[in-house]
Amino acid sequence: MMAAPTLWRLKMKIAVAGGTGMIGAPVVETFLKYGHQVGVISRSAEMVEARFGKRVQPIIVDPDYNHVQGLLEGFESLHISLAGSGSPRSYYKQADATKKLVAEAGDSGIGYITYLSGATVGHPDSKQFYDNDAKLIAEDSIMSSGLLYRIFRPSWFLETLPLFVRRNRLTIIGKSFHGQAWLSTGDFANVVLDAHLQKPASSIQWVGGPENVPLTEAFYRYARKLQLQTSHLSTGFARLLAFMGGGWQLRHVADLMAYFSQVPDQPNGSDGQIHTPTGFSEWLERQI
Ligand SMILES: NC(=O)c1ccc[n+]([C@@H]2O[C@H](COP(=O)([O-])OP(=O)(O)OC[C@H]3O[C@@H](n4cnc5c(N)ncnc54)[C@H](OP(=O)(O)O)[C@@H]3O)[C@@H](O)[C@H]2O)c1
Repeated sequence: MMAAPTLWRLKMKIAVAGGTGMIGAPVVETFLKYGHQVGVISRSAEMVEARFGKRVQPIIVDPDYNHVQGLLEGFESLHISLAGSGSPRSYYKQADATKKLVAEAGDSGIGYITYLSGATVGHPDSKQFYDNDAKLIAEDSIMSSGLLYRIFRPSWFLETLPLFVRRNRLTIIGKSFHGQAWLSTGDFANVVLDAHLQKPASSIQWVGGPENVPLTEAFYRYARKLQLQTSHLSTGFARLLAFMGGGWQLRHVADLMAYFSQVPDQPNGSDGQIHTPTGFSEWLERQI
């Protein structure tokens, strides 16, 4: 269950890496809503300005996060919500960026780090998928830093579904019949806020919503609700299209779907589970 905050700190100054992202932006908005000061670590000042105006402190980094020295001065906490951008190399770059931020956090006196990982990252087969292998490396750098941390391993985010739609058509890649505990980015943002309001303690937490819906079923239910046309591609054909010019993003989605057709979403090696309130059906009902 979501723990009631103990209000360890009423107002804090937190830096959010990847705060311009799909999952990071609601975290930033939630901290702002409750009156906290937020710095957004990004490779692009324009992106930060466009997303948040003057409401946050932009913390601009070089693309490789090579020059982070001094950037976290004055912040008490750090939340990391980074992604790769398609190619396997970009996921390891993201892990490297996390490692550099964590080292800088130690030097800057940051008291607490939270990190967005993935639901199956502790699974024995996790390392076969470069995205999760990179997340394991990032997790290790946090756990060995000596700093207090909370690593979140969330299930699938509901807001991912619209990303599969182009021109009123939803493309379904591969087949996966393992249930996923779909959760909303807004609920996850509250989980991150709660973690920072509680007295810091190191742990790894699986996070998921109340309703398990397999990926393939979720895609079809979403398409039905929004009256979208559907196309189905096998993961092999999607990889071929990616190779023929479809690009790294398509390749990553094909690899992701192939991985999730094999590996079930179960808490693996986590210290506990956090259950968020909004379920798949409730969220779907609100989509128009
Ligand atoms: N979608 C899901 O269901 C799900 C479930 C569990 C975990 N996750 C994980 O959650 C994380 C964040 O997801 P998201 O959808 O919020 O990602 P996103 O919007 O694609 O990107 C998050 C941020 O990462 C930064 N970024 C992107 N490519 C980068 C690169 N090559 N090097 C350094 N920084 C880069 C960007 O920040 P700037 O451009 O501002 O620098 C971006 O705003 C991912 O690692 C994802 O695997 C997702």
